[in-house]
Amino acid sequence: MTHAIARAHPNIALVKYWGKRDASANLPATGSLSMTLDVFPTTTTVTVDPVLARDLLVLGGEERDGVPRERVERFLDLVRAASGSAAHARVETVNTVPSAAGLASSASGFAALAGAAAAAYGLDLDERGLSRLARRGSGSASRSVIPGFAVWHAGTDDETSFAEQVPAPDLAMVVTMVDCREKAVSSREAMRRTVLTSPFYPAWVSSTRQSLESALSACAAGDVERLGRIAETNALRMHAVIQACDPPLRYLSPASVEIFDRIAALRERGIGAYATADAGPNVVVLTRPEDATTVAAEIAGLAETVTAHPGPGLQVLERVPR
Ligand code: PMV
Repeated sequence: MTHAIARAHPNIALVKYWGKRDASANLPATGSLSMTLDVFPTTTTVTVDPVLARDLLVLGGEERDGVPRERVERFLDLVRAASGSAAHARVETVNTVPSAAGLASSASGFAALAGAAAAAYGLDLDERGLSRLARRGSGSASRSVIPGFAVWHAGTDDETSFAEQVPAPDLAMVVTMVDCREKAVSSREAMRRTVLTSPFYPAWVSSTRQSLESALSACAAGDVERLGRIAETNALRMHAVIQACDPPLRYLSPASVEIFDRIAALRERGIGAYATADAGPNVVVLTRPEDATTVAAEIAGLAETVTAHPGPGLQVLERVPR
C-alpha cells in the first residue's frame, strides 16, 4: 500500500470561468484569473490498496456514495491510465470550507486530490502537469495548484489548458458567509444550462476575453482600482448570463445584493473595495490589506466574514513509502 497526503486552498476568480468549450476534457470557453486564498484548506489522503474492489470516498469522516464517489472514481481512472496501475484507492478528504456553497470547495478539493493521487500512484508531474490534471476534476481546481494569483489559459487542447502564476498587487479578500447551505443547482449543471439556453452567452464569452486582457495588464501595473472594477463588472456579468437561463436560475440572494450595495457605498467614501461572487450567495470583497478591517466592519451586521490573503499553492505533505 502506498499513501500520500496533499493540501490545497480555494481560489476566488476576479475574471470568472463560466462555460465549457469541451466538457469531457474540461476545456473552458475563456481564460480566467484568480487569487488562491490562505484560508479554508482541503487536506486529502489517497491510499492505493490493491485489495479494494472499487474506490472509496470518505468526506469529513463519513463514507460517501453516489455522485461524489463516482466523480472521484472517474478522476482516479485518469490517474490510473497515466500510471499504468489498476489498483483502487481510499480517498479521505477534510474540507474546512463549507462544501458546495459557492466558496470553491471543488477547487481546493480536486487540487488536493490531484496532488495526493499523483504522488500515491507515482506520477512525476510538475506544476503545469498537476494544474492540467486538477482541471480534469473541476475546472477551477487548475488554479488552486498555483500560489497567489493565477491565470488559467483557455488553451486549445488538454496540453495547453493550464494555470500559472502572475504578478499582482498586494490584495486581501473579505469572504462573507451569507448562506453556507448546499446550493440547489451545481455549477456544472448551471454552466451547461447557460451554454444551451442563455441568449447572452456569446456576449459573456467575448466580453470576458476582453476583461481578462485588461485585468492582466492592471495586475502587471499594480492598478488595484482598475483590477477591482473589472472584477466586480465581470462577476455581475456572470450572474446576468446565469439569470438569463431557462429554466430560471439565480444564485445571488437579497443579502448578497445588499452587500454589493454596501461595497458601492464604501467606494463613495473613498475606500477601494470591489465585490464578486461565485455560483452561490456568498460575496467576496477585494480590497487593499489595510482596508480589510473597514470592509469587514461594514458587513458585520449582515454576515460573518473571514479575511484572506494570497495563499500557497498545492503542497504534497507526505508520501509513504517515499
Ligand atoms: O470549477 P467549477 O466547475 O466548480 O466552476 C467554478 C465556477 C466559478 O466558481 C463560478 C467561477 C470560477 O472561475 O471559479
